[in-house]
Amino acid sequence: DPKAITCGVEIIQQGKTAFFKARGLYEGKGVVSASEIQGVFQAFERMQGMGKASEQFLVEEGEVGEEFSYYALVDGKNVLCLKSAQDNKRIFDDDKGDMTGGMGAHAPALITQGLEEKIEEEIVRRTVEGLIKEETPYTGWLYVGGMVLPNKELKVIEFNSRLGDPECHVLLPGIQNKYLDLVEAALAQRLDQVKLVQDDLSRICIIGASLGYPGSYEKGKRVTIDYDNLPAGTHVLSAGIGMNERGEFVTIGGRIFSVVAEAKTIIEAMALGYQAMECCQVEGGFQSRSDIGL
Ligand code: GLY
Repeated sequence: DPKAITCGVEIIQQGKTAFFKARGLYEGKGVVSASEIQGVFQAFERMQGMGKASEQFLVEEGEVGEEFSYYALVDGKNVLCLKSAQDNKRIFDDDKGDMTGGMGAHAPALITQGLEEKIEEEIVRRTVEGLIKEETPYTGWLYVGGMVLPNKELKVIEFNSRLGDPECHVLLPGIQNKYLDLVEAALAQRLDQVKLVQDDLSRICIIGASLGYPGSYEKGKRVTIDYDNLPAGTHVLSAGIGMNERGEFVTIGGRIFSVVAEAKTIIEAMALGYQAMECCQVEGGFQSRSDIGL
């Protein structure tokens, strides 16, 4: 469709990067960017080469800003919003290297401080109302993947109908209500009668991943967690850990475990979290980021 090319070219002419996104699934590789006009044609060809996944695709302008994750429990009409969080998706410190399933998270996110009401009103509630108008009301966790631009403007990047990983590790422990009470209230469409109570602690989560991840990596490496010496305010969650025939805990995935630490401030949570990482060992070593929370 020549309109797709025109649209991409117009974005370049505004001095921005154009992104082409396949509508269907393409193993996480369905996005192509172009920052010059020639690149638009190449991106268009790449879309054509993706077969069914890109029978329809989106052309949109790239934005530069800081990402945040925001979650609302929705009962079709009423919403309860959690604090915001941030994921750290790149494999290396300073957000360098390949994308991963998430190398760590922290909450609350400083980038959205003072913008919470705006996010709730202008993004979450408008979306929920829009879904009602379209006669497809939504019940469940609504996940807003958003961005704060340098001028504090808010942009929506994506919506998911689930919680985020690893953000939920730093958000769910802060909820003081009984989780099942929240779920039941959402299902019974009575979230307007519930007061969501969240503690005022800060949390970080640091992921320990197999060497080589997110590329190829070996499995079957012994995992040892020294639970007795974990500092107070920390816990370890298993992810890619299984048991071998000798009954030993071994790696079975790329992201092996996550350490979650809570404290009054992010800085204190970081100190505890990285101390707890010292209690985790993987045969042959593992990789983790050293800047989660910064
Ligand atoms: N934190 C990214 C995701 O759950 O999709």
